[in-house]
Amino acid sequence: HDERTFVMVKPDGVQRGLIGDIVSRFEERGLKLVGAKFMRIDEELAHEHYGEHEGKPFFEGLVDFITSGPVFAMVWEGADATRQVRKMMGETDPADSPPGTIRGDYGLDLGHNVIHGSDHEDEGANEREIDLFFDSEELVDWDL
Ligand code: CMP
Repeated sequence: HDERTFVMVKPDGVQRGLIGDIVSRFEERGLKLVGAKFMRIDEELAHEHYGEHEGKPFFEGLVDFITSGPVFAMVWEGADATRQVRKMMGETDPADSPPGTIRGDYGLDLGHNVIHGSDHEDEGANEREIDLFFDSEELVDWDL
C-alpha cells in the first residue's frame, strides 16, 4: 500500500552539501517526492517536533542543533515508504549503521546523524510530522 513519510536533512547534512545525494537516493529507489521545503526550524517547532524527547538529557542539545541552521524537509510517497526510508537511513546511531546507508556513509555521531525520518513503529508519527511541517496545499499529487 502506498503511504507518505516525512524525511528531513538536518543542519549538518545541509552544511555538508548532502541534500542532492540524499534526494537522489530516494528518487533512484523509486519513491515519489510529493513535498519539499528548505527552511529554518524555530524553537517552537523544534519543541513540537521533538516533544517526545522533552526532559531527556540530550533534549536541549537536540533543540540547539536542529535550530542551528536550515533543514530540507520532504515528504516521500511509495509502497511501505516509511520502512523503506528507515532502511536506507540506517540506525539512529551512525556507528550502528552499515556502509551503504545514509547514516553509515555520512554520519559520525548520534547527535549529528544527517537525516531524520518518521518512526515506522509510531503509528501516528508520519501524519503528525507531515502536518507540522506542511500545509495540505504544499503537497502535490502526481503520477510517477
Ligand atoms: P532523530 O531520529 O532525529 O530523533 C531524535 C534525535 O535525537 C535522534 O535522531 C538523534 O540525532 C538525537 N539524539 C541525540 N542524543 C541521543 C541519545 N542519547 N539517544 C537518542 N537520540 C539522541
